[in-house]
Parts: sequence; C-alpha cells; structure tokens
Amino acid sequence: MFRRKSIITILAAGMVLSSGTVYAQTISAPNAQSDTAFDNKIIKKISADNMYSTIALLSEQPREAGTEGEVRAVKYIEGQFKSLGFETKVIPFPIYDYRTNHVWVKIGGLNIEGAEPRAFSGSVTGNVTAPLLNVGKARLGEVPDEVAGKIALVERGDITFIEKVQNVLDKGAVGVLMYNNSSNGNAFGQAAEGQNIPSVAITREQGLALVEKLKSGSVTATLDVDIEKIEKTSYVVEAKLKPSKNKDTGQIVTVGAHHDSVHGGPGANDDASGVSAVLELARIFAKAPIDTEVRFLTFGSEERGLVGSSFYASQLPKDDVDRMVAHFQMDMIGGRDAGADNPAGGLIMYTIDGQKNLVTDLGAAAGVRTMGVAIPYGQLGRSDHQPFHELGIPSALFIHSPVEPWYHQPTDTIDKISKEKLQQAAEIVGASVYQIARPETPALENSRVAAGIVDYDFEDRPVD
Ligand code: BES
Ligand code: ZN
Repeated sequence: MFRRKSIITILAAGMVLSSGTVYAQTISAPNAQSDTAFDNKIIKKISADNMYSTIALLSEQPREAGTEGEVRAVKYIEGQFKSLGFETKVIPFPIYDYRTNHVWVKIGGLNIEGAEPRAFSGSVTGNVTAPLLNVGKARLGEVPDEVAGKIALVERGDITFIEKVQNVLDKGAVGVLMYNNSSNGNAFGQAAEGQNIPSVAITREQGLALVEKLKSGSVTATLDVDIEKIEKTSYVVEAKLKPSKNKDTGQIVTVGAHHDSVHGGPGANDDASGVSAVLELARIFAKAPIDTEVRFLTFGSEERGLVGSSFYASQLPKDDVDRMVAHFQMDMIGGRDAGADNPAGGLIMYTIDGQKNLVTDLGAAAGVRTMGVAIPYGQLGRSDHQPFHELGIPSALFIHSPVEPWYHQPTDTIDKISKEKLQQAAEIVGASVYQIARPETPALENSRVAAGIVDYDFEDRPVD
C-alpha cells in the first residue's frame, strides 16, 4: 500500500487529485509542452493500420472461451508478445459447461403430465424416489421436520431459490420439486454449490395438481436428473515489460483487454479492438525508456462474467498487488457507429464506484493533449476493470458509449471498425500509461515536469 500512496503523492505535485485537492503549482504551459513531448515518444508511433490488421485476424472466427477459437487467439497474442521479447505467460484456468442429458419426474412411477420438467441451474445429478411433501414456500422456520427423507414440493416466491433449497436441505429433504408462482412456464431455479440434492422446476399447473393429489393421500415421486459437468480451459495472457534494474520505481501499471468473444460472435469491436491496442502499445513501449513495470494482459472468459480477470486477480501475489498503481482496461474502442454525437467520438472512462481516480485523471488530461477534449467519466462495471478495483487498484474502462447496435451480434465485424477511433483511444491510453512509466516520473515532485491537469466531468450517459 505504501508504494501506491507514494505515486499519488508524487503526481499530486502537478495534478488535481481525484479527491479534489488542488496543488499550488499546477497547470502551466511548460508542463503541457513537456507532456506533449513525452506523449510524442509514444503516440507518434501508434499505427491504426497495425491495430486494424490485428482485429481483422482475430475476428476471422469467434473466440468463445473454452473453444479452439480462443486457443488460436491466445497463441497469436502470446506469439506477438514473445517476438517483442516480453516475459510472457499463458495462464490457464478452468471453466465449466453443463449439459443436461435428461430430467425426468415420475409420480407414482409414471412420467409427470404436461411440460417437460427442467433442472435448476446448478442442480446436481441424482436419482431419488421418495414420498412427496408439500412445504409451501419453504420459508425459514416453516419447513416441517417430517420432510426428512422426502422430496419437498415447494412453491416459487418470496425468498430466493437458493434459500428455499437450503431450508429443506437443512431438514433432510432428498430432492426439491418447485412449481411456478405464475403461469410463466418452468424456466427458473438456481441451486448453489454444495446443495447436493436434485432440484427441478415444473409449471404452476403441474404443481397445483400435485398439491391437490397430496390432499387425498400419499404420493411417491421420482426425480431423475442427469447433468454432465464439462470442464474446459480458458486463458489469461500476461506479458511483463520490466524497467532497467538501476531505474525501477518498483511500481506496476497494467493495461488490459479481453480476447474472448460471445458464442458465434466475431467480436471485432468486443473486444478484438482492445486486444489490438494492447498489442500495439506493447510494441511501442518495448522500445521506450521506462522506470515502472508495464504489464500487458488479455483475459479469457470475460463474457462469462469476468472469469479470467477475476482468476488473474485472485492468483496475484500480495507483493504485486501492493505495487500496482493503475489498471487501464480497453473494451470496445473501435466502433465506427458507437458514441453517437458525443465529444471525443463518445470515448468515456468508467469506474466501478463512479469516482475519479489516477487513471481517469491521466486519461482526461491525455484527451486534452491529444484531441483537445477532456474525456468524461461515468460509473459502470461490465468489464475486467472490476476485479482490479476490488483489489484497491485505481482502474477504469475505456469505451465508446453508447455502444453500437451490433454489440454481441454476429455482425460485430471488421467493416464496422474505425481506424480513427482506434488511434484516438490508443493515444489516450498510451500517453496516460507513459505519464506513469516514463523515467522522469520521479521528477514529478518537481512541478516543472509534472503532468498538466484538466477539469473533466461526470456523465450519466446511457450505454446501450
Ligand atoms: N464489452 C462489454 C461491456 C459493455 C457492453 C459495457 C456494453 C458497456 C456497454 C463486455 O464484454 C460485456 O458484454 N460484458 C457483459 C457483462 C459481463 C460481466 C458478462 C455485459 O455487459 O453484459
Ligand atoms: Zn467486451
């Protein structure tokens, strides 16, 4: 933690901190000039054509996590980092798919009439035959002891699925048969890890018929659920660019994007665009003088719920976390049709808590220098900046918002990519990262070369 605080203090000499503190020697023309000179070392080298070619290649096929498409992308990305001489690691992690082979419910030995029952998501495989007991909505304290050894017939509503399953499980039930509380079919239900009894959803009509049947005597039911858990592998690609040993602040800046796409989606903008900028900045930073480790990352399984970035965050040594001072996430930064008529092509920086931080301070200022616009900020998760924020690292998502109409569609293809948007976003992130990583950074205590500051605004902009 000490180190992270120290960089903020250093930068504070020439910046308005996100806390709002204004330091005496702040904006001055010489600062802006020297910033521009430093920017030029990076941004003059950025090639939108390079990024465009990367996107064209990556979007030739979908890159859904756990598929051959992801592996192909990972190999390409790894190859690029290696050819640049980075210390490169491909970090595998497991992801799980579930295939339902069958879900059978029998009443008195006969298949239940009507709609085909459905297993809860997260239900275990199991085959139980036992008396059925109506336990109402299975609220806490309302489940009778006599449910032990029986299958609980439960009505949906009032409390969560997981709570209901737990309440009957705690009393020794061997299965859950839950009926809907509306006439909306049977596509519902969730069981949690460790709730090891089969849990099945049926329609309201089917459930009420059973409630009636139970009034006139005992009913034996069978729940036969066969779900296959299929383990697959997804990956994070990590490439470290280390500063020279004799000029090392010990700090780390991370720059990330996700390489996976949704099922069947070429994901040109989401997020081959971000990956292309990660690779392009890696190429340029490889030759730039730095005193701070710059770590380039691409994540798999973002589209499954930030699984890759969460895994990556969870396996970081504490010492690394303490040294991480900023995370820049680029996700959807090339959409020709994104951003509507907003300034800066709609580029915006989203933070998890809706607060400014070091990343947004640097991004807004770099926006002024590179395109004359103080990039606004807003509040949004939905991408891999989240796990970094949760580790206490200043983080933001760079994206054009509102997003384009073909977000997550098979039509998210290379022809919708704008080289101009790619160039602008990469310049802003590249210039911002370089503000931290350039060797003159310690001189930021000396306001003569401190980063220029800008005012920038919060925007509550609809994103899709
Ligand atoms: N690139 C999107 C994030 C996004 C989309 C942000 C639209 C803002 C507007 C990302 O890949 C994504 O689709 N995220 C998921 C959430 C994630 C936790 C599975 C989403 O937004 O549905
Ligand atoms: Zn995305």
